[in-house]
Amino acid sequence: MKQAENLAVTVIAKQFNGAGNVLLTLASASGHPLPVFTPGAHIDVTIPDCGKRQYSLCSAAGEAHYQVCVRLDQASGGGSRWLHHQVQTGTRLTISAPRNHFPLPEAPRTLLFAAGIGLTPLLVMAEHLAAQNAEFTLHLFLKRHDELPFSARLDQLGSRVVLHYSSEGDSLRQRVPEDLKVAHNSVLVSCGPAGFMEHLHQLAQQHGWRDDQLHSEKFKPDVTTQSIAGDVFTVEIASSGARHTINADESIAEVLERAGIDIELSCEQGMCGACITGVLSGEPDHRDEVLSKKERAANDCIVLCCSRARTPLLVLDL
Ligand code: FES
Repeated sequence: MKQAENLAVTVIAKQFNGAGNVLLTLASASGHPLPVFTPGAHIDVTIPDCGKRQYSLCSAAGEAHYQVCVRLDQASGGGSRWLHHQVQTGTRLTISAPRNHFPLPEAPRTLLFAAGIGLTPLLVMAEHLAAQNAEFTLHLFLKRHDELPFSARLDQLGSRVVLHYSSEGDSLRQRVPEDLKVAHNSVLVSCGPAGFMEHLHQLAQQHGWRDDQLHSEKFKPDVTTQSIAGDVFTVEIASSGARHTINADESIAEVLERAGIDIELSCEQGMCGACITGVLSGEPDHRDEVLSKKERAANDCIVLCCSRARTPLLVLDL
């Protein structure tokens, strides 16, 4: 497996950040500055015995350290539990350099809709928009008041932040925010669980938003679309002309790795974008959660860890 650039960091602070969340502040262990990132970027964190987990970077602009906010997920494979219970100030971690597959789109008006800890990338976007005096509103949906993360930074954004608590009857299902009823000259950027965003996008479409105005990032893969199984097909490596058969229960990444071809892999769930590869001919069967609708429609790239082919042959730009 081809490795993404790894960075050694030290946890220099671990703080409570709303019920169920910890905020980890990471400093470069080498003393070299950490790479600059753009709003929406994430890093992979290597967790012992669990592999890599992706977390959005949520440090404020100009901050020399990285920050990630981790929600304790009891149903997870153990990554969040390890970060909550085993990591302390002084713990060394290995992380990847930042990647950004969720960049902030440009528009005269931006609506940011976050559910729970989906706030992390959108908070950085909101602060970026505020620094530019851009027109935006950040809607944050939580169950209860004690879940509120980043309260001081949200306070700084003032009236451009609207908090919604479902415990008070203010959820997206119960009340549609007025600004969501206006689509003109706007983009809608959202992050949260799949169900939240499906409902949000349905509402948006009912109010005239087009697909190309909707930008989102889910927390977790939609398991119903993540099966890698499907028909047998062939991939061709453009640089060598070598052909490889992808059997019904194998991913393209698995087969190519076995053949000794370097593929950058990280989440292996179609979420992080590490394995996105160009497609020179053939039509991909996209099963990832990382490409936008526009990127999928272009059919000129594929996520090798989970996607398949609609045509018998795919020629990969490798
Ligand atoms: S390895 Fe993360 S999308 Fe393929």
